[in-house]
Amino acid sequence: MIDTSLPLVELHRHLDGSVRLQTILDLARQHNLPLPSNDLEGLRPYVQVSGPTPGVMAFIARFEWQVGVMVDYTAVRRIAYENVEDAKREGIAYAELRFSPWFMAEPHQLDPARVVEAVVEGVQAGSRDFGVKVGLIGILSRTYGVEFAYKELAALLTQKDHILALDLAGDEAHFPAEWFRGHFRQAREVGWHVTVHAGEIAGPESIREAIHGLGAERIGHALSALQDPSLMDYMAEHRIGIESCLTSNVQTSCVESYAAHPLRSFLEKGLLATINTDDPGISGIDLHHEYEVAAPRAGLTPAQIHQAQRNALEVAFLTDEEKKLIKAKYTKS
Ligand code: HPA
Ligand code: ZN
Repeated sequence: MIDTSLPLVELHRHLDGSVRLQTILDLARQHNLPLPSNDLEGLRPYVQVSGPTPGVMAFIARFEWQVGVMVDYTAVRRIAYENVEDAKREGIAYAELRFSPWFMAEPHQLDPARVVEAVVEGVQAGSRDFGVKVGLIGILSRTYGVEFAYKELAALLTQKDHILALDLAGDEAHFPAEWFRGHFRQAREVGWHVTVHAGEIAGPESIREAIHGLGAERIGHALSALQDPSLMDYMAEHRIGIESCLTSNVQTSCVESYAAHPLRSFLEKGLLATINTDDPGISGIDLHHEYEVAAPRAGLTPAQIHQAQRNALEVAFLTDEEKKLIKAKYTKS
């Protein structure tokens, strides 16, 4: 279902939710970290989710194994590098990878600014070695609260020229976007783009706040937009991108099934919705799975799947010139 005459673009993938199972085993072995199992298949059910979990926070608890092996900056660099190699293996021409430095630093008390530096180094090395263009998105984990989010922002700003955009992730139900207006004002002042996880568990008002309060140009998930036709009209008119993550939404129980997912309706209404993975290391999927298996299950026609693929390049945080270059490079090879 992937249109091979178009570049494949991933816009919503957490680098810290994309640690390979084998890398978790390797790092745990190297650093004597306890794991529930010491072989790949034994470990899989602890790290990956295979069906619905009770909710987003239960799903996020699975990050324990992903960030638990981030013992030092070498490990962080390796994980960032392998993310780019995985994107290459999936045939991705351009990927925007996002990460929360505080979340990554916490288990082993690393310095969040040095985590950011290690991510930038790992991604740059991967991009050079594998020929995949990558943009980085910094995340503020709302679940740590407003004050920690300023510290997380400060860590991200140490690499401001190597980061494209700011995102807000975590517990949307208890940490409303409104509390983070100051952080996002700073982000926009340094020229970063803005995307926000919104409307995943909260209602359309959360999406409105992300757009009008934080300046979001794209929304992660946006499930509840479906309840609010005037919001969908606004998003279509202002070309606000939607980063849909089908399997993630089923696994977090935010939608009841693939068939109940609003992506198809978004595309029917002409919204700039896209297909993404979210956390491949936890969901046990890749972008092919989302295009080939998840999207048809969500009722998308082949034409709609191709539209979503075109939308991804359209709403990528790239200049028109960069988009043209990706298209040109893609059609040549
Ligand atoms: N929502 C909120 N926070 C997250 C997600 C998500 O889908 N994935 C990783 N952190
Ligand atoms: Zn996400």
